[in-house]
Amino acid sequence: MKSHVNIGLIGLGSIAETSHIKYLKAAEHAVLAAVADLDDERARMIAQKYDIPQSFQSAEEMLEKSVLDAVMICTPNQTHIPIAVKAAAKGIHVFMEKPIGTVSKEVEDYLRLAKDKNVLTMAGMTHRFRNDVRILKDFASKGTFGNPYYVKAKLFRRRGTPKGWFTNRSLAGGGALMDIGVHVLDLAWWLIGRPEAQTITGKTIAGFGNYGTKYVSSWESSNKRLNSSHVFDVEDFGSAWIRFKNGIVLSLEIAWAVNAEQDEGIQIEILGDKGGASLSPLAIYTEVDGLLSKQQPVFEDNDPFKDEIEHFIDCIRAGSSPLSDGEDGYEVLKMLMGIYESSNLGKEIRLN
Ligand SMILES: NC(=O)c1ccc[n+]([C@@H]2O[C@H](COP(=O)([O-])OP(=O)(O)OC[C@H]3O[C@@H](n4cnc5c(N)ncnc54)[C@H](O)[C@@H]3O)[C@@H](O)[C@H]2O)c1
Repeated sequence: MKSHVNIGLIGLGSIAETSHIKYLKAAEHAVLAAVADLDDERARMIAQKYDIPQSFQSAEEMLEKSVLDAVMICTPNQTHIPIAVKAAAKGIHVFMEKPIGTVSKEVEDYLRLAKDKNVLTMAGMTHRFRNDVRILKDFASKGTFGNPYYVKAKLFRRRGTPKGWFTNRSLAGGGALMDIGVHVLDLAWWLIGRPEAQTITGKTIAGFGNYGTKYVSSWESSNKRLNSSHVFDVEDFGSAWIRFKNGIVLSLEIAWAVNAEQDEGIQIEILGDKGGASLSPLAIYTEVDGLLSKQQPVFEDNDPFKDEIEHFIDCIRAGSSPLSDGEDGYEVLKMLMGIYESSNLGKEIRLN
């Protein structure tokens, strides 16, 4: 097993600085060997601030000049796959932030290439690494819920539309669904055992667009140049009903902005014939000896970004498959694309 892995970080914006740099620098078995960002000044500043040996203005230059085992991609959604393809072609393992990409065909081709090159593909489904979610997954895996038949997944922000390229379809691939919906759908789908989607009815709406609400703030992309055009051509609300081949139904409701109560985190309810669960807070509903029971496990919160990044490093060292691999990222993307297609057509669609 390798004592450490050399990692290059591409895209040095908000999430890279709040999570990836911190946890890569702290990781026992990784070296953050190089960073790259279109904004050359920022790349040099980050390299200096965090004592990183090399900085580059492009992923291509980094891949050419650095000796790397893996890259972590934290750029706008539309650029994930083009960068990942270049890394995979060189046999370099890839972690990419969510969503895995914005075009299904591109993702399919990338996953084929990665397989040919023996490259690990990991998608940043951070919520799978939360302690409450791990506990819930254990209950689900033990069969506590019997046969789940319905799962409800929701995340409403009252006024939480991110600022910057996130509202520009050509860079983000979509709006609230591609930004936060991807996490919610992935989590619910994974918790019920990753069933195969059969039909989707979806509706997306741009209900608010740019609003002028006072005294509220939201996530902001750190690249002022990419953000300067203020394009808003995506949905800020999305809803869907997904039927799976095994009979389970999933209902999804996502909003960046809505006139309703704000959810403090992802809301999931799993209904099964033997038990059920809700998140968050985590509660498990069963019947024990003829009595209704509600369990609320006690646990310490963790930082899922830290565990996710360490997991990627461990997978490279061990040559094992990541918990949230590219194949899962692709399945979730196909469902998201199905929601857009159904919404555009105004009818239920069937997935191949
Ligand atoms: N897992 C999570 O919970 C989570 C949270 C936030 C963001 N994200 C994801 O992380 C990614 C980045 O989001 P962010 O908020 O940090 O955005 P950001 O705009 O703050 O940062 C993106 C950075 O990428 C750089 N960049 C753009 N195109 C590039 C290219 N082709 N090559 C190199 N650098 C390039 C920009 O200059 C910018 O510095 C997005 O895909 C987003 O969905 C994930």
